[in-house]
Amino acid sequence: MSDITQVDPAYIADSLIAEDIEAYLLKHQHKTMLRFITCGSVDDGKSTLIGRLLYDSKMIFEDQLASLEHDSKAHGTQGANIDFALLVDGLAAEREQGITIDVAYRFFATDKRKFIVADTPGHEQYTRNMVTGASTADLAVILIDARQGVLTQTRRHSYLVQLLGIRNVVLAVNKMDLVGYSAERFYEIVTEYSHFAKQIGMKAFLPIPISGLAGDNIVTRSENMPWYQGPTLMGHLEEAPVNVAQMQDGPFRMAVQWVNRPNLDFRGFAGQIASGIIRPGDAIRVLPSGKTTTVKSIVTYDGNLDQAVAGQSITLTFADEVDCSRGDVIVQSDAPCEVADQFEATLVWMEEHEMLPGRPYLLKIGTQTMTATVTEPKYEVNVNTLEHLPSKTLRLNAIGVVNISTDRAVPFEAYDKNPDLGGFILIDRMTNATVAAGMVHFALRRSQNIHWQALDIDRNAHAAIKNQKAKVVWFTGLSGSGKSTIANIVEKKLHAMGKHTFLLDGDNVRHGLNRDLGFTDADRVENIRRVGEVAKLMTDAGLIVLTAFISPFRAERQMVREMMAEGEFIEVFVNTPLAVAEQRDVKGLYKKARAGNLKNFTGIDSPYEAPDDAEVILDTSDLSAEDAAERVVQALLSR
Ligand code: ADX
Repeated sequence: MSDITQVDPAYIADSLIAEDIEAYLLKHQHKTMLRFITCGSVDDGKSTLIGRLLYDSKMIFEDQLASLEHDSKAHGTQGANIDFALLVDGLAAEREQGITIDVAYRFFATDKRKFIVADTPGHEQYTRNMVTGASTADLAVILIDARQGVLTQTRRHSYLVQLLGIRNVVLAVNKMDLVGYSAERFYEIVTEYSHFAKQIGMKAFLPIPISGLAGDNIVTRSENMPWYQGPTLMGHLEEAPVNVAQMQDGPFRMAVQWVNRPNLDFRGFAGQIASGIIRPGDAIRVLPSGKTTTVKSIVTYDGNLDQAVAGQSITLTFADEVDCSRGDVIVQSDAPCEVADQFEATLVWMEEHEMLPGRPYLLKIGTQTMTATVTEPKYEVNVNTLEHLPSKTLRLNAIGVVNISTDRAVPFEAYDKNPDLGGFILIDRMTNATVAAGMVHFALRRSQNIHWQALDIDRNAHAAIKNQKAKVVWFTGLSGSGKSTIANIVEKKLHAMGKHTFLLDGDNVRHGLNRDLGFTDADRVENIRRVGEVAKLMTDAGLIVLTAFISPFRAERQMVREMMAEGEFIEVFVNTPLAVAEQRDVKGLYKKARAGNLKNFTGIDSPYEAPDDAEVILDTSDLSAEDAAERVVQALLSR
């Protein structure tokens, strides 16, 4: 069996792939490629079905069958069934071991078509895996165990498939052999499923009764179910339309991946066409700038083209010198897409750490990456009952609707119209993990209606009259570390020097502006976001702002840093060890927290992320508050 699991990366479907990839591609180049995903719950026979498709497509393992046969003989067994069983065991074993392999892509081909099937393991990260597998799929096979019928998992998978825009759905009712090939049972399941399908807006699905193990209706029509007249699973997979063909009907859109400028005479814009058709001479528009020109030529490695269509990777040259760079979207001039910086979207949360409204995440849409923040969910969806539930956040595997605001305007389209320009992911800025997948619904009008008002008396004018440069001196550290005490002395010293200062202190601000906030992660994020905005306004007024907040998360300190001009944000880490702060316990809060009477206390049951690039670090175990303050003042003066 070990031989099977070593056939990596993806059960090479044809020995030519390994030997001569060029020859393989040539052999299959005129065939279309169908990408599909299989979704199933535990034990509904997914491995068996995939094994059956691979096995019955007859093209697999030309070079591995020999070793399989050898293996089966070594185990004292014989015959084609054993090979099939070994194959299935191998697939299952690989998936069990492969906790780290999120999605396994397996390739195979028949006389009519090439296939890539995304096989997604069903452990607790299944949402992430399904989204990954489904994002490029033309078709989804939703597997049901005929004995079990429609399960919670079936509903979740179907909801995600619908959300991700897969319009070609097969309901494979498996293990028909175990229900006596009963037509009645089959139609019972189909009826139940169609009620749910209708509720989630699924327009159509194709039900097929199968047995992956016995091979019924997989490649050849089953003699056990004469009452079924529809296509076999493989027959349908060979005929189903692929998305690329459908996208050719839409207006032309292409996100620029890179600018190709080998010499001064050539400037081309490379990308993959998301939708539509393009020809030399076509009028186009570059978004977000809105500049227009016409296409001069369509360049590829195989020479210039008279026409290119959705799915093709090309380089366009323009008739005029028009600014265009990576991330811009080239569209048909008379049918542009929208441009906005605030959207409503559905989010599928895929991370252990819950979503934090107000925290900046990286948002990747098309070929662009930018900073974005998410509001509290408008609602979360219970995918079983389709109820809208109120929610303050989204946890692992949750699906909800939120507003998103980006730090710049992006060309986009609604996801259900164009997944390439309406689908995005959110990335955690600190860990680089993908935390969510999103689908744009529409732009929020307010983004077009609120403009920045340019004021004549600007921040420099305000600061100049005070004879100073505006700054934010941001103290961070544990509760009881000495932030407020030191900041207070610093302010007195600056004041004595004739500087206009203002001290924002956690305990005080939480009595007024932020009295509605507690100490959950989400509330702390919002606390710092508001304080950051206030500090920003105060620097606009020309003040030297001192802030004393625990501000436990790197992400939000970084966010405030980025709101200020270069050099204006000075982070002061009051580095008092937990043991010392706890021993001082000026407010008696550590004692309460240790006794379990105060929840989410920083350092006890709520994290503190120490800065790694603070401008000033104060080690208070060998510095008096007075000396520490003097250090900060010196650091300010030297800037
Ligand atoms: S922050 O984490 O959101 O930046 P902030 O600095 O505003 O916190 O407030 C911290 C102060 O609130 C502490 O100095 C302490 O006096 C008080 N406090 C009350 N409950 C907590 C808690 N659970 N965790 C930390 N501080 C708390």
